[in-house]
Amino acid sequence: MQKIALFASGNGTNAQRITEYFKDSTEISVDIILSNNPKAYVLQRAASLQVPTRVFDRREFYDTRSILKLLKEREISFIVLAGFLWLVPDYLLKAYSHRIINIHPALLPKYGGKGMYGIKVHEAVIQSGDKESGITIHYVNDKYDAGEIIFQAKCSVLPGDSPEMLAQKIHFLEYEHFPVIIRKVIMEQTSA
Ligand code: GAR
Repeated sequence: MQKIALFASGNGTNAQRITEYFKDSTEISVDIILSNNPKAYVLQRAASLQVPTRVFDRREFYDTRSILKLLKEREISFIVLAGFLWLVPDYLLKAYSHRIINIHPALLPKYGGKGMYGIKVHEAVIQSGDKESGITIHYVNDKYDAGEIIFQAKCSVLPGDSPEMLAQKIHFLEYEHFPVIIRKVIMEQTSA
């Protein structure tokens, strides 16, 4: 069994979707959900889904190795960021090289970087007048939204679309593709 640790900072709809997608899998399971935000709604979702959780603060994440120790103890083989807003520290990148996957709600390299998350991304897309947007699933490196791209999917931005309407289209794309791509990456890397 390949075990995933999900990292999320907010609402957690993707975390829920991914957990449910792998619920009956004999190959892959969501083992734990971690958050930097003790108030994040994802923690309540995790409780309903009966997935263990762990909350950490900045000092613990960047200045200690306790999260890495926890992941090793639980035999986590892949990390998935689902709306996680902090940079991943070097020690984790090294320990999980090419095994940390993120999703971004735009067609990178456009509309990425520090501060570009959630509704801010959709506001920027609409402001620019782009006719399409989409999702990018990518490996994580030491910069925001800059790791190697694994997969992209597009949707149209129509005249009159609000940031919230675009967010909804993007979320549907995320729910459709993210679990499938996670599975594909894990199976390709582990079934050699
Ligand atoms: C998702 O749209 C995800 O792509 C985005 O945060 C949202 C989280 O929604 N991630 C980023 O913007 C990362 N830069 P959720 O909490 O409902 O899954």
